[in-house]
Amino acid sequence: MRADETMTEHSQVTQTNAKAVPTLPDAQTVISVKHWTDRLFSFRVSRPASLRFRSGEFVMIGLMGDPDPKTGKQKPLLRAYSIASPSWDDELEFYSIKVQDGPLTSKLQHIQPGDQIILRPKPVGTLVHDALLPGKRLWLFATGTGFAPFASLLREPETYENFDQVIVTHTVRDVAELDYSRSLIEEIQNDEMMHELIGKDNLAKIVYYPTTTRQDSPKMGRITTLLQDGTVFADLGIDGINADTDRGMVCGSLGFNKDIKDVLEGFGLEEGANSDPKHYVVEKAFVG
Ligand code: A2P
Repeated sequence: MRADETMTEHSQVTQTNAKAVPTLPDAQTVISVKHWTDRLFSFRVSRPASLRFRSGEFVMIGLMGDPDPKTGKQKPLLRAYSIASPSWDDELEFYSIKVQDGPLTSKLQHIQPGDQIILRPKPVGTLVHDALLPGKRLWLFATGTGFAPFASLLREPETYENFDQVIVTHTVRDVAELDYSRSLIEEIQNDEMMHELIGKDNLAKIVYYPTTTRQDSPKMGRITTLLQDGTVFADLGIDGINADTDRGMVCGSLGFNKDIKDVLEGFGLEEGANSDPKHYVVEKAFVG
C-alpha cells in the first residue's frame, strides 16, 4: 500500500455516507478523517455550541466500549485528547496515534464521516498562555502526537501577540511522521484567512525545527540531545535559552517530558501552572 495513494485520502461528510447511529451521550459527529501514516491520523468533529476552551487545552473523547459479556452493558471508553484546532474554530480537530491493540485507538482509527464520537465538554490543561510569564521567545517542544496542542496554539492570534519568535520543535521516528506538523505550518503561513486573522509578519515568527531519530533526514537526533550539545542554538543563530527571554511549552511521552524538564531547568527555567505562571509548562501526550 503506497502512502501517497491511500493513506492520505481525505473524506468529507456527504448525504450518502452519513450513517444513522443511535445518539450517544455527549455525541458529536465526525466531519472528516485524514490518515497520515499507518500509525497516525487526524479528524474533525462538530463542536458543541456551548463548548468554550483556551487554545492548548484538552478534553476527554472516545467511543462506547464493547458490551460486557455478562451484563451486555456498554461503558464509554474515554481518553484525554488535546484539541488541535484553535479556540475560534467552528469545528474541533484531533490528532491521534493508532495503536493496534489500544483499547480506544484500535477502534477510533476506523471512524468515518457521519459517525458519532463521545466528547465530554470540560476542557482543561496547562499548555495555555495564562500559565506563562511574558517573554520574547516561545519554544513549543513536541514528540509524536504531542504536536496536537501546538496545532491549536499556532492558529491562535495571542501566540504571536505575546512573542517575537515562536520556535516549534517536533521530534519523531520517521520522516512521514512530520507530515501533519509540516503541512499545518505551511498551510497557516500561506492561507489568506490566517494572514487576515494573525498577520503575515506574525506568521513569519514561526521557526520550524523538525528532527527524526530513526530514519535519515536533514536533522537527526532527539531534541533533548540537540539542546544540550548546542546544535539547536548554532542552527538557529541564537545564544541559548534563559529565564529572562525564553518560555517553553512541552508535550510528548512521559520519558520525553521528564528529560526535557531537566534540560530546561538546567537553563534556569521554572515550571509554571495556571495559578502560578512561570517559564515553561508541560502536558503528557495521549498514547495508547
Ligand atoms: P527515539 O526514536 O530515540 O526513541 P515515540 O514514537 O516512541 O512516541 O517517540 C517519538 C519521538 O520521541 C521519537 O523520535 C523518540 O526518539 C523521541 N523520544 C522518545 N523518548 C524521548 C526522550 N526521553 N527524550 C527525547 N526524545 C525522546
